[in-house]
Amino acid sequence: MRFLTGLQPSGQLHIGNYFGAIKSAVELQNKGEAFYFIANYHAMTTMTSAAQLRENTINLAIDFLACGLDPQKAIIFSQSAVPEVNELAWILSTVCPMGLLERCHSYKDKIAKGFSPNHALFAYPALMAADILLYNSDAVPVGKDQKQHVEVTRDLAGKINDTFGGDIFKLPEPIINEVTAIVPGLDGQKMSKSYGNTLPIFGEEKPLRKIINKKVVTDATPLEDPKPTEGSIILALYKLFATAEQYDEMVEAHKRGGVGYGQFKKDLFEAYWEYFRAAREKREWLVANPDYVTGVLTDGAARAREEANITLTRVREAVGLVWH
Ligand code: ADP
Ligand code: TRP
Repeated sequence: MRFLTGLQPSGQLHIGNYFGAIKSAVELQNKGEAFYFIANYHAMTTMTSAAQLRENTINLAIDFLACGLDPQKAIIFSQSAVPEVNELAWILSTVCPMGLLERCHSYKDKIAKGFSPNHALFAYPALMAADILLYNSDAVPVGKDQKQHVEVTRDLAGKINDTFGGDIFKLPEPIINEVTAIVPGLDGQKMSKSYGNTLPIFGEEKPLRKIINKKVVTDATPLEDPKPTEGSIILALYKLFATAEQYDEMVEAHKRGGVGYGQFKKDLFEAYWEYFRAAREKREWLVANPDYVTGVLTDGAARAREEANITLTRVREAVGLVWH
């Protein structure tokens, strides 16, 4: 079984990214072959600062490793280290109906958020399909919002197989963790960097404590009264970090009354801070050892590229790009 996923280096990682994508990626690297990459071509669809892209790319590599992606188990690389992916994206584009791209939610969402409707943003799912198919992936761990892109990938793989004959590509499956499919943001909407409602995985203790204290939305139930558990953002977030008993205790304390939201937020912070303790310590080491991090990316790129070239050779032949 081969697993693959990518994350865009478009900002600071948040716990939605962690529970939606990274956590399963860490688990899956023990269960088969794993290809994990930093989607820097994809990030260019919405970012124009070269310095920022460079900085985010290395930071994301550091965060990947800190969160437990392990170069002994997984191939970790940056998307642009294997530029062959663009050739495959082009080939896939030739069988990709416009309507398929027009139906993609993420394009419409990005436009609604004010990003300029450039061609790359529109064609983004074809590049994502190329990422997945270039490495012959069986399964793709992603958050729910990326599921449609994996469906597009299956469509395009099927079209290539139908058009050019045979089993050129296998059809990949998305892996969605239904429990944490959509992590709520501090305001209760989906957590997303574009909504400014995120809880970062990494950062300094004081500002993070403040974020939880000030930004997690609650109602105005007085301290002594019972508090609603339905729709509670504190509880939804606490559940991600706390043990089952701790979580049940907090639910009971909501129902009983007599405990204020300030205390619940403090408990939430403590559980969150503890949850990422080991990752934070590892991150400190990685920041102090940048050569190790670039080494991981260089190694990963070489291994990924080898695999990519095997696929691309097969595809080039199948579609008629090799004539001698
Ligand atoms: P953002 O919405 O902050 O821009 P991305 O779109 O870059 O995040 O998402 C990167 C990965 O993290 C994707 O696999 C996505 O599905 C997952 N993800 C992002 N936000 C959440 C969330 N709130 N809940 C679950 N998964 C998420
Ligand atoms: N589109 C994904 C996101 O925004 C990133 C991505 C690019 C990806 N290529 C991929 C995810 C291939 C999984 C597989 O989060």
